[in-house]
Amino acid sequence: MTDKSQSSPAAPITEAGFRADLDALLASGKNEPALTHLITELPRLLGTNKINRKEKLKHLTFAGRMLQGAGLGKYGPQKLERKATNLARVVKRHGLRSRRTFVDLGCGAHEPLGLATYFYVNGFEKAFGSDFMPVSDAAYAALSMADILTDMYIFPETYMMDGTDLDSYLARIKNFDLGALKRGDLDAGLARVAHNVEFKCCDIVEAGIEPGSVSFLISYAVFEHVMDIPGVTKHIYDLMEPGGLGFHYIDLADHRAYRHDGDYNEFSFLTEEDCAPNLNRLRASEQVAAFKAAGFEILENKPKQKPIPEETHKRYLPRFAAMSDVDQSAHAMRLVIRKPL
Ligand SMILES: C[S@@+](CC[C@H](N)C(=O)[O-])C[C@H]1O[C@@H](n2cnc3c(N)ncnc32)[C@H](O)[C@@H]1O
Repeated sequence: MTDKSQSSPAAPITEAGFRADLDALLASGKNEPALTHLITELPRLLGTNKINRKEKLKHLTFAGRMLQGAGLGKYGPQKLERKATNLARVVKRHGLRSRRTFVDLGCGAHEPLGLATYFYVNGFEKAFGSDFMPVSDAAYAALSMADILTDMYIFPETYMMDGTDLDSYLARIKNFDLGALKRGDLDAGLARVAHNVEFKCCDIVEAGIEPGSVSFLISYAVFEHVMDIPGVTKHIYDLMEPGGLGFHYIDLADHRAYRHDGDYNEFSFLTEEDCAPNLNRLRASEQVAAFKAAGFEILENKPKQKPIPEETHKRYLPRFAAMSDVDQSAHAMRLVIRKPL
């Protein structure tokens, strides 16, 4: 492949060379360098030939998809499949009282209705995504949903939960307007299911979901951001039907560790008095205690631990240093909870 250190910034770039370099990086598992290659070289490629620009632009989309296929920047079906498979296993282990209402609390702004779509297609009467943040890009959300629905239609064996009927599963997929979603029109794509699949753009406590109606309420990477823990846990308790099931993945880490600049690790914020204004820094046992205090029973509690770097551990604030090993070293946790009958 081209030796970049030998080439001047103005060296000519060919489409074949661009693709060969991208393919070589992907084939050797160098996904991050492949992304850098795409970002830096593609504008140069597009600039070299004014006549062929549209054709070349297609490669932007194509190369982006290849990167997603290689596991970088997962979106749509790939993102959904991972979460849906996990949640279907949770349901299989503990059972559901009904398929009345599903809620994805803190569903995010990018693909807010992916999980809601999955549970609606699997027989839930209503499925909500709820988040403060408005949809960041409705066209992107629509295209991602079109890909999700297409995948669900083609691979029912991957997406059908136990107990789902195939005919009704396929009929529900057809209730979405796939053509509109493919054009990037989210509202039109959802028009026929607007009473069943809905994005509630607000705090969960203001979402107007019927108390006692929720059979399954889940969240991914939300409860570390919730500041009014007693208020929100009590509210979701009231939303659940008796026997209603909950799954919560809680990211207990200092999120600055995800910058990958080496300045912070998952535990750095346990050494600083004033930091992380958007993280509550509750430790694993405190999160569990909050759900118990609201009335939930705990069915599964799986903290994920990792070694604390020695330098960081030495500087833990006294209140964290006094905690159990698990509370000190858990960087994430999975909780399965239930509202008692
Ligand atoms: C880190 S994001 C996770 C998004 C998504 N669940 C995912 O896995 O990609 C946390 C989201 O929770 C939302 N959130 C936090 N508290 C909330 C609340 N009380 N009601 C609704 N959304 C909330 C935030 O706005 C944010 O979009």
